[in-house]
Amino acid sequence: MEMMAVEEIREERMGIGGEGVKLETPVIVLNEKAYAESMGEKGFELAEICEEVAVEKGVNIAICPQQVELAMIASMVNIPCFAQHVDAVEPGSHTGFVTLESVKESGGKGSLVNHSEHRLKIAEIDYIIKKAARLNLLTIVCTNNIAVSKAVAEMKPYAIAVEPPELIGTGRAVSKVDPGIVENTVREVKQVDAGSVVLCGAGVTNGEDVRAAIELGADGVLLASGVVKAKDPRAALLDLVSGL
Ligand code: G3P
Repeated sequence: MEMMAVEEIREERMGIGGEGVKLETPVIVLNEKAYAESMGEKGFELAEICEEVAVEKGVNIAICPQQVELAMIASMVNIPCFAQHVDAVEPGSHTGFVTLESVKESGGKGSLVNHSEHRLKIAEIDYIIKKAARLNLLTIVCTNNIAVSKAVAEMKPYAIAVEPPELIGTGRAVSKVDPGIVENTVREVKQVDAGSVVLCGAGVTNGEDVRAAIELGADGVLLASGVVKAKDPRAALLDLVSGL
């Protein structure tokens, strides 16, 4: 399928003409998780570093701040900010849940969905994908293998991020250790839904890992510890973006 056609599919899905929400690719998506190194002021600093590197190097970086900082960080930076998790509930009497409406009010562009550290039921994933599209929010649905990626592609999320859980946080990059899962996920997902953005993650720590992911056909990477836990997060990010 030609590039233009793929763009049209994505635009139609997001109701563009409305708010023009999309993720430019290739992209690095930084999930700050609940690490001590990304709390409060440290999270603000990480967000600023991401924005500075994105501008200086002319690359696409999106961030998923800690949930309680989403509104603050989305108001501080111009790069896309995502929630790390959202619940399949309507606004109302639910304590401690996160609604898609509140993500939107916070200035978030969308949410990670079904991260391996915060799994959801299939029906919940489907509900979130459809409701997010109506609200012009982007969904990045995490999957653990090729079969689950294909099944999720049928639900037409904005993006799929395949992450083998056993490689998460290890520094052993999926794009190097298990290239087959990346290549085959890209192929299978794009066969089901040519407009889907496909990311890969787990263990991605340097520019070579990113380059390998892009060469395997991924539209970008989802990562966390390689930057959040780095002694020098700016240097780590500069290395990573050299692979885009
Ligand atoms: O959400 C990204 C994540 O699960 C990968 O983590 O630390 O291996 O980059 P990490």
